[in-house]
Amino acid sequence: PDNLRELSKKIKVYIGSAVDVATLADDAGYRRTLNREFTHVTGENAMKWSEVEPQRGQFTWEGADAVVRNAQRNDQKVRGHTLVWHNQLPEWLTAGVADGSIGAPELRRILRDHIFKEVGRYRGKIRAWDVVNEVVDDDGKMRDTIWLQKLGPGYIADAFRWAHEADPHAKLYINDYNLEWNAAKIDQTLNIVKDLKAKRVPIHGIGFQGHLGIQYDYPGDFPSVMKRFTDLGLEAAITEADVRMVLPVTPEKLATQADYYKRMLQTCVDNRRCVEFTVWGFTDAHSWVPGWFDGEGAATIMDENLVPKPAYGALLSVRK
Ligand code: G3I
Repeated sequence: PDNLRELSKKIKVYIGSAVDVATLADDAGYRRTLNREFTHVTGENAMKWSEVEPQRGQFTWEGADAVVRNAQRNDQKVRGHTLVWHNQLPEWLTAGVADGSIGAPELRRILRDHIFKEVGRYRGKIRAWDVVNEVVDDDGKMRDTIWLQKLGPGYIADAFRWAHEADPHAKLYINDYNLEWNAAKIDQTLNIVKDLKAKRVPIHGIGFQGHLGIQYDYPGDFPSVMKRFTDLGLEAAITEADVRMVLPVTPEKLATQADYYKRMLQTCVDNRRCVEFTVWGFTDAHSWVPGWFDGEGAATIMDENLVPKPAYGALLSVRK
């Protein structure tokens, strides 16, 4: 294969990227590369609650619409990200909960309306939704969010049921980071899935974000972890892959990074229920990493000038 789109057809796994909407609009090189290389896209921020409803009742769908429209024109599937999360919630919502002006019954209605509005707007256009994102903490406890505090643990089942009602064909995912290796998080997430399945709640997929760094050992158990989930009948996706490093970049570090990317994609290819491998941005010019980890960066498969790094070639070499 000459590019990732050709590879995607060959290995029968969608290969996706997160999309930054501002750059999509402004930068033709970015747009061309995205549309040449990828068969799946996720709005990096565009579908998050703070982006689509910054003021209560005032909806700003332009960014999300642009991602979906570009995908449809370029034969790309779309992952919706994300319906229920504790980050990037609008100020009116968090402030209202904090000062008590939004009580539990109203909060539950607000969440229900949000899910019906957003999922309903894109009904038939989203292959898979990250219904709940990062609901388990690294210590294996349920994450202490406004959702858990005010609505209790049943908010998860509710969210899946509402999303399914709003778009019965979309695959509905639970998505998390460190799930490739963190035993406490893995066990708790498996328990959530089993409980939802026992209650006949429509959950279809497990998302492994795949945020790795070469200063840490590669999570060698990832294939068996993925299998524990897919053995429950779920499909799987790697939803936000990137591999950061402590700067400066060296050829050795790029080689290690390439190996990590390749092993992640191979893990997906080797599991017949893994259908999607999505990177969290495809160029170092647009990556969340430098802004979040002091002294780290270069986490994507192309450099700032869209020149492929060794990781890109390593992905192209993956076979079924
Ligand atoms: O929208 C404002 C904009 O108005 C303002 O001018 C600008 C100035 O800083 O900030 C903009 O918001 C930023 C937003 O990205 C959009 O660019 C936020 O400050 C910034 O915090 C936000 O970061 C995003 C982060 O999620 C926030 O939680 C990253 O881009 C995004 O890559 C990251 O993605 C998450 C996934 O959703 C879930 N998994 C982890 C992953 C990495 O953290």
